Amino acid sequence: MSFTLKKAAAAAAFAATAFAQPGRRTTTSDDGCIEDMDPTQMRLAYYGDSGMAVSWNTKVKLAKPTVLYGPSGDLSKSASSSISVTYPSSSTYNNHVVITGLEPDTVYHYKAMCDHRAYSFRTARSAGDGQEFKFAMVGDLGTMGPDGLSTKVGSGAANPLQPGDNTTIDALHAKKTGFDFVWHVGDIAYADSWLKEEKGGYITPLNTSDHGAVYDRILNEFYDEIQPISRDVPYMVGVGNHEANCDNGADLSVCVPGQLNFTGYRAHWNMPSAKSGGLENFWYSFDHGMVHFITFNTETDFPNAPDEPGGSGKENAGPFAPSGAQLEWLRKDLASVDRKKTPWVIAAGHRPWYVSASTCTQCQAAFEPILVQYGVDLVLHGHAHFYEREAAVGKNGTSVQEITANPSNPWYIVNGAAGHYDGLDEPVYPLAPTSRKLAVEYGWSLFTVHNCTHLTTEFIASRNGTVLDTATLYKQRSCDVTKQSDRSTTWQ
Ligand SMILES: [Fe+2]
Repeated sequence: MSFTLKKAAAAAAFAATAFAQPGRRTTTSDDGCIEDMDPTQMRLAYYGDSGMAVSWNTKVKLAKPTVLYGPSGDLSKSASSSISVTYPSSSTYNNHVVITGLEPDTVYHYKAMCDHRAYSFRTARSAGDGQEFKFAMVGDLGTMGPDGLSTKVGSGAANPLQPGDNTTIDALHAKKTGFDFVWHVGDIAYADSWLKEEKGGYITPLNTSDHGAVYDRILNEFYDEIQPISRDVPYMVGVGNHEANCDNGADLSVCVPGQLNFTGYRAHWNMPSAKSGGLENFWYSFDHGMVHFITFNTETDFPNAPDEPGGSGKENAGPFAPSGAQLEWLRKDLASVDRKKTPWVIAAGHRPWYVSASTCTQCQAAFEPILVQYGVDLVLHGHAHFYEREAAVGKNGTSVQEITANPSNPWYIVNGAAGHYDGLDEPVYPLAPTSRKLAVEYGWSLFTVHNCTHLTTEFIASRNGTVLDTATLYKQRSCDVTKQSDRSTTWQ
């Protein structure tokens, strides 16, 4: 059994009994902490090149969430906030603190209040830092173990892990010193599979009066499982349809308050939208070295968005901003990019429109003209549960170009193959005319930004680390980047 699956099994067993256990420490210790203030689900997110968002969960509300930090083991500085939020049906509070005034590309040690040990992170590289770096990308990654993807399947699910397989969480954990951050482009945890798992005979149903408890349990298990990654490297997220509510396998009537309208997703993460003029965890951008990264929202907040009331996804969610706000922000954000300093622009939104599966035509209508107009280099998607590398494609599928030939069109990669309870998808044949490589296997993507002209992708099988695809995009251009450090991320 893999590391993650062993931990997940233990965590699930604990979760089932934890709230009933007598003897939990409730008395206040010298530092003012009680056991219910112990931090769980530690997670980081970039906040410019001089800041870092630190978030964690606790069983109780914190009056003043605080992080101690410093350049070494000396945690003499502190940052605080008053943000400790929960929602109906959640068993935890989400605490958010942003540390500011840091140096770029620098290691800091940090400790959340009431934690027993410190961890460390490295701040973002400044825009214009021309040093090569790597980042990881996953899509459609769910909880592993007895409440999610394991070596068994329930009725209607498929593609169980084989004994000894590493999960995608295992794989990312093993390689986390080899990339600067993780980008999870939607469908996070798959807590909404709870009823499907019950109906499929995979997990034991609770009483109907406990509706909602399993959803909360699966969500917490996922965030516990990724903690060994997300507390050490920034874990940047985009929104997917499975964040909308709890109704996978049923309809909205099964969802209790707190499990509708992206509530958990909105509460849990703290993406740098305030820093980039975006909105919550829905759309935002950030610079890192030679790249301007953009996360956009394919679920709500554009014409005919699939998850809005009346939309094709039947999720009855959003919108979250005035009409037109997201697309206006996207245009403005792209117009402001200094391509001499960040020659690469990489955008990610959950639902694909060039893929050998059903396509999000309304997403294409909204986003593609803008991405093409501003010369976005690479567009990443998930949602289809396989890996497919596409060509570089012009508006409406025209002018298909190869990535080695200095394409002017955006290059598209779909990777929704990280793994979750439901398994993988079979592509639709014949494959899309833009398809260049297909892999129906659990895996993750590693990107290497070499310099301002070359960028390589690898698709790596999670189970054994085999590289199933590699391809390099070439752009003929000059830029104004300088190597500000000789550090490079390395495998360990
Ligand atoms: Fe999806």
